[in-house]
Amino acid sequence: MTDLLLLRRDPSDDEVAIPITDGTIKAPDLRKISVDGEPLASYDPGYMNTASCRSAITFIDGDAGILEYRGYRIAELAEKSTFMEVAYLLLKGELPTAAELAEWEATITMHRAIPDQLKTLLSGFPHDAHPMSVLMASTAAFYTFYPDSRNFSDPQARALNIARLIAKMPTLAAFAYRKGGAKPYIDPDDSLGYSANFLSMMFRKGENSKYDPDPRLVQALEVLFILHADHEQNCSTTAVRAVASSGNDPYTACSAGIGALNGPLHGGANEAVLRMLREIGSLDRVPAFIEAVKGGERRMMGFGHRVYKNYDPRAAIIKRAVEDVFAITGVNPLLRIATELEKIALEDEYFVSRRLYPNVDFYSGLIYEALGVPLEMFTVLFAIPRTVGWLAQYEESVVDPETKIARPKQIYAGHRGRVYVPVAERG
Ligand code: CMC
Repeated sequence: MTDLLLLRRDPSDDEVAIPITDGTIKAPDLRKISVDGEPLASYDPGYMNTASCRSAITFIDGDAGILEYRGYRIAELAEKSTFMEVAYLLLKGELPTAAELAEWEATITMHRAIPDQLKTLLSGFPHDAHPMSVLMASTAAFYTFYPDSRNFSDPQARALNIARLIAKMPTLAAFAYRKGGAKPYIDPDDSLGYSANFLSMMFRKGENSKYDPDPRLVQALEVLFILHADHEQNCSTTAVRAVASSGNDPYTACSAGIGALNGPLHGGANEAVLRMLREIGSLDRVPAFIEAVKGGERRMMGFGHRVYKNYDPRAAIIKRAVEDVFAITGVNPLLRIATELEKIALEDEYFVSRRLYPNVDFYSGLIYEALGVPLEMFTVLFAIPRTVGWLAQYEESVVDPETKIARPKQIYAGHRGRVYVPVAERG
């Protein structure tokens, strides 16, 4: 039996029955109710209570602190799988067999290089350009090299361009950091896996030198990549789906995702957290900072989440990884400030009543810093793995017959029918 929501505006009106499916009503069904001759609509800035699609990729239970990719718990994936396995899982829905994984890794390795003209483009940005802006612009520029990518009704063209972008993103990210010039580009090293190759392109001194990272640090980066790979309908994924909905290629769609991710309320929070910790600087200044947050003058970056009203499961895994990494690299004194902020916040009424907990960005920057990654690259390190999630969501939206061009309504709150006065006659 279908659950029905029975609505009537006035006791004298007939009831309108709206079916409830999957705990939701279809907003277009509200049009069956008329208000002053106009169909009823819903108003939901920020999509606080609106499902924008059906998805089988990522499940989150924000109250219980559960995150699953394709039904697998994030903690188990972080502990037992590689990032390439998780990428395959997110994109194709199943974990790969050994043969499928080997083929997938070979495909990604094969597509790592980026066109020479794109290197020239990257070298043209100001030497101090923020790498996220460089990444956004150059990801969009890929479309000029691969115009076949807009042929997205062809599954093979989609698969090719999805693999290309996942393969090239670490190269582009490292090049966005090096920008030619003083730090010449280091081409991909096909003998290295996805994460180790990225570190090599970032840190190798020159083409003839070898970069030999501690495997435990490479493993820490793999875990971070797995944790950041997808997070259902967040701001950047929503941007990707919206851009895809007008019939766009994956490069243009992911470029929009990078733009959305860059904001400090989203992926840019990892950079903002480190700036906040540095600004606080010492333990004795933590209480004053907490007071400033409670007084509304400051925001505690890396805290709070739209969906998690419990400890973000990714933050719990990262917190443990921080300790493992610091056992190798030595402890960053900012960890003590972060731990103290968390301790106070978890007991303070302001944070408790609003159910604010550390999110994925609270501790991740400390690991990036321990790996030697400069501050302005932190959000880029979020964008690399999230590209997989964006592309899985892109693919899902393209094949979903229910997808429609994103085009929300508005409540018009401006003037109407004004009389134009020529500029010379305006007072
Ligand atoms: N510090 C202080 N107060 C906060 C914070 C925070 N970080 N986050 C939320 N609040 C307060 C907020 O002021 C509001 O209080 P009141 O009810 O008195 O007005 C209440 O908590 C609800 O907050 P909201 O802004 O309505 O919640 P939201 O779901 O719209 O925003 C958020 C979620 C993540 C944007 C927000 O928690 C925030 O700005 N956090 C800091 C930035 C951050 O760490 N972002 C990374 C998010 S996780 C990874 C990702 O998405 O990339």
